[in-house]
Amino acid sequence: MSDGRVAADDGERLQKVLARVGLGSRRVCEDLIADGLVTVNGTVAELGRRVIAEVDIIEVEGALIPVKPSAVYYLLNKPARVVTTASDPQGRDTVVDLVPDEPRVFPVGRLDYETEGLLLLTNDGELTHRLTHPSFGVEKEYLASVEGTPSRLALRQLREGVELDDGPTAAAQASMETPGLVKLTIHEGRNRQVRRMCDAIGHPVLRLVRTRIGPIADRQLKPGEWRFLTGEEVRSLAVATAPPVDEPAIEPKRRNR
Ligand code: URA
Repeated sequence: MSDGRVAADDGERLQKVLARVGLGSRRVCEDLIADGLVTVNGTVAELGRRVIAEVDIIEVEGALIPVKPSAVYYLLNKPARVVTTASDPQGRDTVVDLVPDEPRVFPVGRLDYETEGLLLLTNDGELTHRLTHPSFGVEKEYLASVEGTPSRLALRQLREGVELDDGPTAAAQASMETPGLVKLTIHEGRNRQVRRMCDAIGHPVLRLVRTRIGPIADRQLKPGEWRFLTGEEVRSLAVATAPPVDEPAIEPKRRNR
């Protein structure tokens, strides 16, 4: 059918499609449908519903499920002692092992082996470029448990910039959440930057967790768990990385002389 509806025996069973993209076993996906959490083209789906992955818009609890393997966006809560690469020559667990195998995705930027927290994985190269390129300056927020309790002066140093071996850091936001727990928001993405900034003020990091990437945060996602970004979140990332209005996205053509 061309209008997006499917005849009774067209398409695949909804639970099969949902299971294929990693939402759980077919049984778990049947429960999602039975609980009324799945909509197809804006209408709550009933068990037995069939869909055509190329046509139908499938949402689970409001999150757009990319059943058609084009662009996918995962938000992972990276546990400690997992490497942020697609494959590791030393055979350690990688972040890619924690999300579905298909379609193939890549991490957006990197978190150190010991760092925990939010990490995006996608096959959208354009968004990856925008999120990782320093010129877009997307904010990243971290909670750092540090040795001792930094003084007000030390926090001010973090805010105003500290000298690292690859140059001074840009202005940042830094505040004390509880004694020894620093919230730091930076918009650069230098190697081990937060750890080095905390070393520079004499308070080495004991534990580091990334809690926000631009507009994306999630306090419910447990270490090792992932979820799809919602359509709204993908849009908000595009907005957060949009070039300034006075800067044309495409360089104007030079006039021939
Ligand atoms: N800063 C660090 O020091 N480590 C990370 O993983 C991310 C930011």
